[in-house]
Amino acid sequence: MVDLFAVTTRGLETVSAAEMAALPGVIVGTTGYRRVTARVAAPDPALLTLRTIDDLFADVATWEAIGPERAALATMGTYSARIDLRPAAAVCGAVRGRPIRREPAFSVTASFVGRRNYTSDEIKLACARAIEDRHRGWTYTPDDRKADLNVRVFLEHATAHVGVRVGREPLQNRPYKQEHVPGSLRPPVAAAMVWLAGILPGERVLDPCCGAGTLLVEAAYRGGRVLGGDPDRTALVAACGNAATAQARVDLHRWDARALPVADETVTRIVTNPPWGRKVAIEADAEAFYSEIGREVTRVAAPGARIVVLTWVPEWVRSWGLWVVSELEISLYGRTPYGMVLAR
Ligand SMILES: C[S@@+](CC[C@H](N)C(=O)[O-])C[C@H]1O[C@@H](n2cnc3c(N)ncnc32)[C@H](O)[C@@H]1O
Repeated sequence: MVDLFAVTTRGLETVSAAEMAALPGVIVGTTGYRRVTARVAAPDPALLTLRTIDDLFADVATWEAIGPERAALATMGTYSARIDLRPAAAVCGAVRGRPIRREPAFSVTASFVGRRNYTSDEIKLACARAIEDRHRGWTYTPDDRKADLNVRVFLEHATAHVGVRVGREPLQNRPYKQEHVPGSLRPPVAAAMVWLAGILPGERVLDPCCGAGTLLVEAAYRGGRVLGGDPDRTALVAACGNAATAQARVDLHRWDARALPVADETVTRIVTNPPWGRKVAIEADAEAFYSEIGREVTRVAAPGARIVVLTWVPEWVRSWGLWVVSELEISLYGRTPYGMVLAR
């Protein structure tokens, strides 16, 4: 058995757990703050297709009693020297479809919650030196792009979770995401919205405020026939570029979401994060703007359609008069918007 843990966006742990559980052979264990644990009987390349998580790690150790004082650096060094990372390297090689070389270069990434009398760079160095001592021929590199393996140390209160990244790159990086516009979603969050929308192949999916097209590309990946638009030419150029890089078929239009050129009751899934607040200003009265978008969303949605909206003002979306199936408070850009699942 191979023990794994995924790191995800706060608030989306249950969505990521559901996506992981849907992969054949994955047994999901526990979900906690930004973490989902899982087991697989054997390493499988399909693990790299997970889209709602930020990244996936082979679980190598859990250290307890890691305090905020500087003495914890020596403790982490001692614990690092005890881990044998070769089994995790073999897992990574099997998932990636290419064995990791015998004497790999490795990077270390460390992050923590709360105040500490040491920095993440100091954690990295303490662990890296010990790993080099324990694994003859392995070389530490501070440049993750040059590393064959990445060792991650997540310190949460007094517990450190230690893993080795399964993929070569963090899963949250999408090669298609070359173009950005203000308010552009992180791809795992877009993928989670698409997951919540439950898109089936061939379904007609709309994002009326598409920005750089992240939701549209993620929806196309699930097999949706996607349609989107934005009044901003720069956003449309970005969406077009991202869709082309992703080789996704996306029907793009320059439009105002308050007057959509889409027939009544013809869309079965809608995924969107309308403009609001600091990132994307809107000229109109924001509440009236939301209400007009809601009127159009309700008009074009087919009976039984599912609508997923990411919003900072859930009360404005609740007033659209659609059935609210669920609401998730998530952490994004240091704030807590809501992912709302609605049905018509
Ligand atoms: C938060 S962004 C969407 C980001 C997009 N989901 C992504 O991940 O790239 C909101 C978008 O709404 C667009 N927008 C502003 N006013 C609009 C309107 N009247 N109709 C449609 N879209 C509008 C903005 O140009 C912006 O690109």
